Amino acid sequence: MAKKNILICGAGGFIGGHLVNHLLKDKSNNLICADIKPKEYWFQIYEENKNFSLDLKEYENCLEVTKNIDYVLNMACNMGGMGFIENNKAECMLSVLINTNLLRAGLKNKIKKYFYSSSACAYNASKQNETFIKGLKESDAYPAMPEDGYGWEKLFSERMCRHFQEDFNLETRVVRYHNIYGPLGTYNGGREKAPAALCRKIIDAKINKKKEIDVWGDGEQTRSFLYIEDCIRGTMNVFNSNHSDVFNVGSEEQVSINQMIGIIEEIAGYKVNKNYQLDKPKGVRGRSSDNTFIKSKINWEPNYSLREGLKLTYDWIHSEMTNGTNISKFTKS
Ligand code: GDD
Repeated sequence: MAKKNILICGAGGFIGGHLVNHLLKDKSNNLICADIKPKEYWFQIYEENKNFSLDLKEYENCLEVTKNIDYVLNMACNMGGMGFIENNKAECMLSVLINTNLLRAGLKNKIKKYFYSSSACAYNASKQNETFIKGLKESDAYPAMPEDGYGWEKLFSERMCRHFQEDFNLETRVVRYHNIYGPLGTYNGGREKAPAALCRKIIDAKINKKKEIDVWGDGEQTRSFLYIEDCIRGTMNVFNSNHSDVFNVGSEEQVSINQMIGIIEEIAGYKVNKNYQLDKPKGVRGRSSDNTFIKSKINWEPNYSLREGLKLTYDWIHSEMTNGTNISKFTKS
């Protein structure tokens, strides 16, 4: 059987790395991996793949890496948690070049299908002003009022995919990720999201016998968080489906940040006082996913509870912080 040539963009990142790891299990896949980071900074790298360190904002680079490619999965963008996206709006918006040039190049090189990773930041901010809101349905992205900077790029790029499909018959698939977390991701340095940041802070407090951690906002803001393995399964289910609608890939288990800290404290066996920093980036007041549409069309829903996913994430960050070794197993079984 002929091998499928699959290009993974952003392969050196958190989600991209886990996707490569997953796709490698199918020996009929021939993987081509691209990321802007020098290879020594990729979260996961596999020598059997073709690995390229290059800037996909450049059309010439997109043309080069999409040659002879059947499928493109685009996870590449300049992003992070609230601490990064609130302070780097222009950088976030420049990722529009990655998606635009990949679509143009993919069309020219006659790829068969294109996947775009959008975000819950595409949702209308005025529908996220309360804590414990009803889950966001895919239609709640309109009328458009997404997260400034990052969210506008995501919403615009979603539509670009839709129009490449409608006008040029390029098959596209799009999902909106809701705060994906897990091992082998960023847990320090400024781009980390709340689950990793709060695991790190509690581990640090426990190791160094500190009584208090800093928490951004008043801790009452709510979110849902999706474990990486569920994210990869949702991604592939949507990619392999016949549906070109935009789908939520998120969890419906909505918690406040204070509640999440409570779960991490139980995992750590260590309690902390919270120093609420009201001037830090907070994002929307409440956000969660409504999975009705993806359940009905794709038959996908998460397998991991927040507690299960946090335990695996906490253990990995703990091992990184204490002896720098990677745990190779991140599944429940
Ligand atoms: N990052 C971080 N670090 N957030 C903290 C911390 C901390 O130490 N303490 C409290 N928080 C709060 C933030 O203020 C925010 O209200 C909430 O935890 C969630 O923050 P993040 O996890 O950083 O981001 P987000 O959920 O607002 O948005 C993330 O997910 C989106 C998809 O759902 C970002 O990664 C976006 O880029 C992404 O699109």
